[in-house]
Amino acid sequence: MHRIHGTDVYTGFLPTLAEDRQGWNSQHTSFQEIISGSRPSVVIDVGAWKGASTIYLADLLKRNAVPGTVIAVDTFLGSVEHWDRGSGFAGLMQHRFGRPLLYEQFLSNVVRGGAQDRIVPLALTSAVAAVLLHRLGIQAGLIHIDASHLYEDVLRDARAYWEILTPGGFMVGDDYNQDWPEVIKAADQFAAEKAVPLMASTPKWIVRKPPPAA
Ligand SMILES: C[S@@+](CC[C@H](N)C(=O)[O-])C[C@H]1O[C@@H](n2cnc3c(N)ncnc32)[C@H](O)[C@@H]1O
Repeated sequence: MHRIHGTDVYTGFLPTLAEDRQGWNSQHTSFQEIISGSRPSVVIDVGAWKGASTIYLADLLKRNAVPGTVIAVDTFLGSVEHWDRGSGFAGLMQHRFGRPLLYEQFLSNVVRGGAQDRIVPLALTSAVAAVLLHRLGIQAGLIHIDASHLYEDVLRDARAYWEILTPGGFMVGDDYNQDWPEVIKAADQFAAEKAVPLMASTPKWIVRKPPPAA
């Protein structure tokens, strides 16, 4: 928290919104397997929305007695499908004066869930957050890619966050299914580019960064 923000961002925050942990595929079995197996001290959730996946990851750290932190990267402004009022994903965000209240919802959920000691929110675009985390020398053993689902964005996020994934660490991406062909295309291209096998664990795609040679 202090390395990124220089202060505790929860200081003085009162959860103003009722708990709403609506999300998608937020509690995938791979999270438990990776956290219990490799015990990462830093996890990055790229695309946090209202906090369902972030809080689950933080709870898994606690349940597995891993003294770790989840960094939640999100603009907290929603993706194109959440803004497109013709899409099936519309109507899920509260707004105030035209701006989504996702950050307020996220913080409220984290505090109501008592997880603020294990979660650091980072309200930036995924691209800028990756540069900042790299600059700060922060690496993670598990990175969840679940921000924009557009082909160029998924590929860009996978490439950028690979740079701060620890050797032997896991990258897990969401929505590797026929509903999101651009995610499939980007994930397949990324795995081929890095010459690593892609494991499909519906609906997640998983790749592992090779551990250092012994
Ligand atoms: C599918 S939701 C994440 C769902 C969440 N992981 C869960 O389990 O509920 C995608 C999120 O990515 C965020 N997002 C989209 N594009 C982004 C970008 N370029 N940088 C940062 N966040 C972005 C949106 O604001 C949205 O909250």
